[in-house]
Amino acid sequence: MLIHTTSPPSQPTLPPMTTPTALLTSPPPNPKIHLTTVSDNPKNLEGLKRLNSLLLPVNYGTKFYQDIIRNPDTDGALTRVAMWDGGVGVVGGVRGRWEPPSSSSSSSLSSSSPTDGTPRGGKIYLMTLCTLSPFRTLGIAAALLQHIVAVAREWGVEEVYAHVWVENGEALEWYRRRGFVVEEGVVEGYYRRLRPDGARVVRLRMLGE
Ligand SMILES: CC(C)(COP(=O)(O)OP(=O)(O)OC[C@H]1O[C@@H](n2cnc3c(N)ncnc32)[C@H](O)[C@@H]1OP(=O)(O)O)[C@@H](O)C(=O)NCCC(=O)NCCS
Repeated sequence: MLIHTTSPPSQPTLPPMTTPTALLTSPPPNPKIHLTTVSDNPKNLEGLKRLNSLLLPVNYGTKFYQDIIRNPDTDGALTRVAMWDGGVGVVGGVRGRWEPPSSSSSSSLSSSSPTDGTPRGGKIYLMTLCTLSPFRTLGIAAALLQHIVAVAREWGVEEVYAHVWVENGEALEWYRRRGFVVEEGVVEGYYRRLRPDGARVVRLRMLGE
């Protein structure tokens, strides 16, 4: 299996840490990573499926993956896989979902009509974000998140948000360092396969940044 046959890459020198906002706007790009869509190459979609089933505690069904191909302007635009140079294949991936503005929203951005077919306003929900263990701490998840944040800016969405398992302190801290606010309350019963089964919601406000 990929995770066992691939030697962990050497660690690059890290740039000095600044503020979370600075991390989002001026990323430390890792030249060995490139992001790609899954629609052009069935192997990339298979890679994303493998990654999610290996690393995440939620079982994502066929529709989750079919929608990426069926809806290229929304689900497809919010899905990227990270490839590591040298033919290793998919080493990280993100799958987001666009949530249109509710009709009660009074935001001018939310109510603007998508004349060119581009989504406007609303929210982006991060359904999955993960990196294969040997390829962690190389900026892969940061690069994937930066793609989502760039799309969020382009679409004028209000926020990007996600659920994180209450015990996943590493991921909660990772989001916090990138400007997300971790909500106090716990969504009980969110992870049926885990004990405890609660999730924390993390939110990155986009408007007025
Ligand atoms: C949480 C998770 C997605 C992070 O993935 P990752 O690819 O290791 O994340 P990054 O490399 O972008 O960031 C990790 C750290 O490496 C550092 N780093 C190391 N080398 C780097 C480089 N070349 N460029 C940028 N950052 C680098 C980052 O600064 C970061 O440290 P910080 O959080 O203290 O700022 C990963 O641990 C994972 O897949 N966990 C399991 C699934 C999960 O929990 N998903 C999230 C909840 S949905």
